[in-house]
Amino acid sequence: MSRAKRKMDHIKHALSTGQLRQHGFEDVMFVHQSLPNSSVSSVQLNTKIGELALSSPIFINAMTGGGGMETLTINKGLAAVARECKLALAVGSQMSAIKDRNERETYEIVRKENPDGVIFANLGSEASVDQARQAVDMLDADALQIHLNVIQELVMPEGDRDFTGALKRVEKIASSIDVPIIVKETGFGMSREAARQLVDAGVSIIDVGGFGGTNFSKIENERRDYRLSYFDDWGISTASSIAEVNCFVPEATIIGSGGIQSPLDIAKSMALGASAVGIAGYFLRVFLEEGHDGLCNLIAQVHDDLKMVMTAVGASSIEDLQRVPLVLRGETFHWLTQRGLD
Ligand code: FNR
Repeated sequence: MSRAKRKMDHIKHALSTGQLRQHGFEDVMFVHQSLPNSSVSSVQLNTKIGELALSSPIFINAMTGGGGMETLTINKGLAAVARECKLALAVGSQMSAIKDRNERETYEIVRKENPDGVIFANLGSEASVDQARQAVDMLDADALQIHLNVIQELVMPEGDRDFTGALKRVEKIASSIDVPIIVKETGFGMSREAARQLVDAGVSIIDVGGFGGTNFSKIENERRDYRLSYFDDWGISTASSIAEVNCFVPEATIIGSGGIQSPLDIAKSMALGASAVGIAGYFLRVFLEEGHDGLCNLIAQVHDDLKMVMTAVGASSIEDLQRVPLVLRGETFHWLTQRGLD
């Protein structure tokens, strides 16, 4: 099967298998405050991930690139939305463009469309230092995402079967590349053990890519005759993953992602310890169904609503929001209790 066809299949199945909304945020409760001493007009949404300053805590997470005209049109459109709404944007894996120069245009269009924006390059953990440099240079990128996707590869009929050496390669990249490195999961969540290994290897920014949104086991199973359905419910929910990394690996800067859609999901991610959130599948669906204006309107609304929620809990900044009290219940409470969080 051609790479272009596989990428379009991913988009088609991502949209049809949908967002699971089992991200655990329903178990996370803000504590109502009757005296928040706050005002909507004084809420500031700017944040930092590591050294990187962002005017919004929301960014468009890695999706596509390579392939043909369809991916080029999507990337160009998302880059225009990112420019207009002042959001950072990650491209999909650039490995195909590193192996084949003809595939570069679908990535380079992102920088052309958004010359001054914050853009993240993207590769898998199979990448070498040289490939990491090429990916960053291709986009004049502000950071490099390295994705971990063991379950997707296992379920993918033509996927990898050998995952040895990934941490060593990530460590080499982290010590050789000048821009910040973000290691991200892709919908199965990051454990405290994996986060600890990454931080000890020199990675300071972790995108938990939790369970509860786009599900790459389901997507790849759609492409198989014999389904590995036991992986469909596999993973750490986004809420649990943020909380366990925040509690046990406090040095890490955390990005929350995996099924995030609503202003409340975003606010709860920050309150659990994230500094920013990535949204992939939901933004893609809105973009494909409602176009540029539909997605820009949605983002403006989410920013406004996030300010309302922050006002209600008495937070004037993302840093304030990271400190507000929470009560946990249900599966998320059980998970975190068994994982040692008191
Ligand atoms: C992705 N994702 C992804 N991630 C990555 O690091 N490199 C990639 O090339 C891709 N490709 C990709 C294609 C499509 C169509 C989708 C929907 C997603 C994963 C993405 O960045 C994110 O980690 C997960 O989708 C979980 O977030 P959402 O979709 O639940 O917000």
